[in-house]
Amino acid sequence: MNDQALRRLGDTRIGPDTKGMPVDAIGGTVAELVAARRPLFGGGFTAPVMVLHAEALEHNLALMARYCRDSGVELAPHGKTTLAPQLFARQLSQGAHGITAATGSQLRLYRAFGVPRVLLANQLVDRATLAWLRTELETTSDFEVICYVDSPATVALLADEFAGAPPGGRLPVLIEVGHPGGRTGCRTLAQVEQVATAVAAAPGLRLAGVAAFEGTIGPPGQPGVRERVRDFLTDVRHAGEWLVRRGLVPDGLMLSAGGSAYFDLVVAAFRDGWPSEQPVQVVLRSGCYAVHETGPPADGTPFVLSPYRGESLRPALELWGQVLSRPGPELAVLGFGKRDASFDTAMPTPVRLRRADATTAQPFTGARIEGLNDQHAYLRLPAGHRLEVGDWVGCGLAHPCTAFDKWRLIPVVVDDVVVDCVHTFF
Ligand SMILES: Cc1ncc(COP(=O)(O)O)c(C=O)c1O
Repeated sequence: MNDQALRRLGDTRIGPDTKGMPVDAIGGTVAELVAARRPLFGGGFTAPVMVLHAEALEHNLALMARYCRDSGVELAPHGKTTLAPQLFARQLSQGAHGITAATGSQLRLYRAFGVPRVLLANQLVDRATLAWLRTELETTSDFEVICYVDSPATVALLADEFAGAPPGGRLPVLIEVGHPGGRTGCRTLAQVEQVATAVAAAPGLRLAGVAAFEGTIGPPGQPGVRERVRDFLTDVRHAGEWLVRRGLVPDGLMLSAGGSAYFDLVVAAFRDGWPSEQPVQVVLRSGCYAVHETGPPADGTPFVLSPYRGESLRPALELWGQVLSRPGPELAVLGFGKRDASFDTAMPTPVRLRRADATTAQPFTGARIEGLNDQHAYLRLPAGHRLEVGDWVGCGLAHPCTAFDKWRLIPVVVDDVVVDCVHTFF
């Protein structure tokens, strides 16, 4: 990665527009804030503030890297979860194959920070981005991109831009397979065949394999969801087997799927049973694993269902808000809302409590967030709970992809001392 670009992040000046920061840090640099090793409680941080727990983050990155190594599969973590190049650098240094992107603008961001290999896990139909990509790939040797296609129309767009590319500069593409009721991706083997034929006829493109995303089938824990995911992954594998039988992937077959909810099923469906002469590379694209989640969605995820060597992923995100009001004996209103927290799969889960001016926090159970407005949370308390105006409540979050995008600068803490800050680029 581009170390200079990463280092320059520390020179960023903290402005009044950055949520959660200490008032007296405004005007200073992020590096100065980090060097000060301020305590999260009593160090001037203002509510609401979302933090990352360094030890849980490191544990998750290392656990998933080890799982992939031991399982003989590659990991191209989905970068759209965090859009934090500092975290991409850590994922790559732990052996990630590349970083996955979803859009042209993410691709450009990754390029600016020197991500060497990108799996663009989406259909790219924007001519301006395609033209930019062609130029980038032609003028540098340290940037590789692999794209999806799911129709002859997409193939035609890519083929048009990459026509005349030298043999070494052909754009590798994966045929995306989708599930019924899903989003992009071929729904039938006949469609896969059509797309494969179109790629074979495009001199600027190279067929690299098949890809899919099973995470849209249903949330973990839903009855029957793992069976439905298994069936879908079998169909995806059949598409890969068809490409092999037709001799369409002589350089090797890539099979890519796998978010953070069913990656064990992807490994089971894709990895084994290929002819010995056929090189096969399985690439997972998990993103949320890096910070995991708190609450029910996490209960059905692979390492929770079946801890890997006795270990599970750990929730690494915590959102702190202050009690603004106690309108009733069982209700407290907190000062964070939809602008600050993820809420699309589950409400934040209260896990810790810090009394108004205390410098430490204690575990907090028995309370529940019932709803969110833009800037407020409704906290239902056990009857008679003595939570007071000004107290701080720390919450675990579900679905990190929709939490990171609400924070531009995220303090990283060890034992509630800020030791780093992560920049996001949404
Ligand atoms: C195509 C694709 N691949 C991988 C992922 C990563 O999955 P997860 O967020 O479960 O880690 C996503 C997430 O939405 C995705 O859309």
